[in-house]
Amino acid sequence: MAASHIPLLFLLSVSLLSITTTTAHNISAILDGYPEYSLYNSYLSQTKLNDEINSRTTITCLVLNNGAMSALAGKHPLSVIKKALSLLVLLDYYDASKLHDISKGTTLTTTLYQTTGNAPGNLGFVNVTDLKGGKVGFGSAAPGSKLDSSYSKSVKQIPYNISVLEIDAPIIAPGILVAPAPASDVNITGLLEKAGCKTFVSLITSSGVLKIYETAAEKGLTVFAPSDEAFKAPGIPDLTKLSNAEVVTLLQYHALPGYTPIGTLKSSKAPISTLASNGASKYDLTVTTAGDSVTLDTGVDASRVSGTVLDSTPLCIFTVDSLLLPTELFGKSPSPAPSVVPEAAPSPTPVLSPSPTPEISSAPSPLPLSPPAPPTPSPEGSPAGSPDSGAATADSKSAGNVEFNAPTLIKTTLLAASAGLLALVL
Ligand SMILES: *[C@@H]1O[C@H](CO)[C@@H](O)[C@H](O)[C@H]1NC(C)=O
Ligand SMILES: *[C@@H]1O[C@H](CO)[C@@H](O)[C@H](O)[C@H]1NC(C)=O
Ligand SMILES: *[C@@H]1O[C@H](CO)[C@@H](O)[C@H](O)[C@H]1NC(C)=O
Ligand SMILES: *[C@@H]1O[C@H](CO)[C@@H](O)[C@H](O)[C@H]1NC(C)=O
Repeated sequence: MAASHIPLLFLLSVSLLSITTTTAHNISAILDGYPEYSLYNSYLSQTKLNDEINSRTTITCLVLNNGAMSALAGKHPLSVIKKALSLLVLLDYYDASKLHDISKGTTLTTTLYQTTGNAPGNLGFVNVTDLKGGKVGFGSAAPGSKLDSSYSKSVKQIPYNISVLEIDAPIIAPGILVAPAPASDVNITGLLEKAGCKTFVSLITSSGVLKIYETAAEKGLTVFAPSDEAFKAPGIPDLTKLSNAEVVTLLQYHALPGYTPIGTLKSSKAPISTLASNGASKYDLTVTTAGDSVTLDTGVDASRVSGTVLDSTPLCIFTVDSLLLPTELFGKSPSPAPSVVPEAAPSPTPVLSPSPTPEISSAPSPLPLSPPAPPTPSPEGSPAGSPDSGAATADSKSAGNVEFNAPTLIKTTLLAASAGLLALVL
């Protein structure tokens, strides 16, 4: 009995091992030590900007104390606050001495906002100017903008990975406070058609899964839409052989319950649940990251995240270059499962899809024992293709930062082992 778990444990450790990247810093933990930034820190978590910040090096976070943060907090939707805060993350390292040593006293610097693809022109750049009397001013790089924000003090430096500096007011670029359409108004099918995912659109429309997506989108949803080419790839299973319920499950497998932008995907260490996951069937995915390239592993195949169609809290839509084939539907060895894992009480409907639309029979679920395939190396040197991914931007330094970190590695492996043992006991 116990022995049959060893390969699983081993696989678990191996897959953790291969996705462990160097975590140089944890902005949430840094700011936890400063109650005066608690509001800012809480918004970093709510917007998931913390994951994006932690996945990068050579950056500067301009933080606002609780008083200055009140210019944004509670006055705007999360999607707007995310834009405003991402303009405060400079993709370069500035400490106090570098601020006062800018050549010619003024410079434009790229921010995280520039990497989102939502910043037209130079709206994603910030003007840093060394003013007279030791003052340093910050403002939008958009022509005619004032330097409305000033450096007040240094908070923390981990040279040259992250510098945290306090400024006295948010930097407001023209138009940045305009709210994007709320998730409930987003035309998901329209966006997907434009992004080259017509086949996927016709499937989610005809199966009724679009309604499931729309309902989930109000709370948070991440969609992985395969391109039209993905449906023509050689060797993909004949989807017409699937029952309606299986098609629904397959399409639910292409979405996550919750807002998971690219930085958060990159920092996902454990398998992540999809809309198809329920008590009895895992239907999960693992994420592997190589530089800016993010790959989803289903256990049957691997699919690269090829572009960002929309990233607007709480809805994220990505394109992927292959269909995501869950082991539960397409596992190669449907051998009668040894009954080592007592199956949880059958739960007839997937959680999180309270939509009345298609009735979803619990998919024929062989025990989820088909072991996950070893992480497939992602296509080399091909950064996740969209301008949104940050690949095409100034942040070349963050690419290729995947390294092994021995202490973290040992810790995660031990954790994995104890989690596995715990699972055995339970
Ligand atoms: C800075 O980040 C690198 C990885 O990008 C890491 O190896 C190094 O330990 C970090 N430096 C510090 C002082 O934490
Ligand atoms: C970062 O720190 C926060 C608490 O400050 C913690 O909850 C979180 O798990 C940490 N993240 C990582 C990746 O260690
Ligand atoms: C930054 O803004 C100041 C004040 O508007 C301006 O004089 C300066 O030229 C700007 N710097 C750059 C590099 O554009
Ligand atoms: C969504 O976009 C599609 C394609 O552009 C269009 O046909 C459809 O009418 C739009 N739906 C709504 C509700 O606007």
